[in-house]
Amino acid sequence: MTTDALKADTLGAIAAADSPEALEAVRVAALGKAGGITQLMKGLGALAPDERLRVAPVYQALREEVSAALEAKKAALGRAALTARLAAERIDMSLPAAMQPVGTVHPISQVMDELSEIFADLGFAVAEGPEIETDWHNFTALNIPPEHPARAMHDTFYARPEGGDESTRMVLRTHTSPVQIRTMMSQKPPIRIIAPGRVYRSDSDATHTPMFHQVEGLVIDRGIHLGHLKWTLETFVKGFFEVDDVTLRLRPSFFPFTEPSVEVDVGCSWEGGTLKVGGTSSWLEILGSGMVHPKVIANCGLDPDEWQGFAFGCGIDRLAMLKYGMTDLRAFFDADLRWLRHFGFASLDVPTLSAGVGA
Ligand code: PHE
Repeated sequence: MTTDALKADTLGAIAAADSPEALEAVRVAALGKAGGITQLMKGLGALAPDERLRVAPVYQALREEVSAALEAKKAALGRAALTARLAAERIDMSLPAAMQPVGTVHPISQVMDELSEIFADLGFAVAEGPEIETDWHNFTALNIPPEHPARAMHDTFYARPEGGDESTRMVLRTHTSPVQIRTMMSQKPPIRIIAPGRVYRSDSDATHTPMFHQVEGLVIDRGIHLGHLKWTLETFVKGFFEVDDVTLRLRPSFFPFTEPSVEVDVGCSWEGGTLKVGGTSSWLEILGSGMVHPKVIANCGLDPDEWQGFAFGCGIDRLAMLKYGMTDLRAFFDADLRWLRHFGFASLDVPTLSAGVGA
């Protein structure tokens, strides 16, 4: 093939290449080890000196022209691929929201949003942890060693009961308290977090479902005492139920991970067959709490002489039932559209402190 024909062929193939792979094939055919142009250059050594002087610059120019054409085509293909990708991944964010409401926000999601709003105002961040937990995070680190009787009270679902030790054995978390451990191990105090989420216990009747929701609260700082806990809980309950005459009753209790421990009841009264928050004619237990046990603080690598704190764990489903008047917990998880339309919330009504967290 003449040099001119080789050039025309190669430049034509470059122009016709429509993918990076096709272009690479053209490059190999021209400039690869056994490529046409490479062969020409290799043949130079066998030519007579004056012939070589004549053709070498021609071959050289050919090689440069082909290299430049390959580069240019490669860049063009790259730009085209990017343009195609941008076009394919385009989202039209100008679509109007459907004016007919097509779904509702579940009361549990609503209550979680309300809690986040109230506690964000008090300087708490929202923390998360896995629902499939190690036995160590769910129990041992919280001062509930293996064989501790408190384990029996939790009706635990064991994900991998046989073999392994506490650090590898997995459970469905029975409370949100393991998030305390994860937070203390991954953040430096001062700590102020809430951790809403799903928890699991093998239990089922009108007021218990095998999966339910809790919100954990944790404060770790210097000089924290029970007074801080009581004020925080009162502020939270007043904000959540939007009533000012809330009375809380703190009862001494026991949890292995708090010392002292208190259970908290909220004062209620019966009005026309339903229980309303306010007054003191009836009491409803809403949460467990206490000062974080020094052993738990030490288990997380912090010095309990320097850092103290309080924690609480509160059933979200029960809060929702009390505030919004549902009577059967199981209906929360039936996915019955009539129930959801009745008790659900408009998706654009985001709870805010200024407009009221109660929707
Ligand atoms: N984890 C406890 C429970 O599920 C509640 C709790 C949380 C108690 C934090 C004290 C402190 O019953």
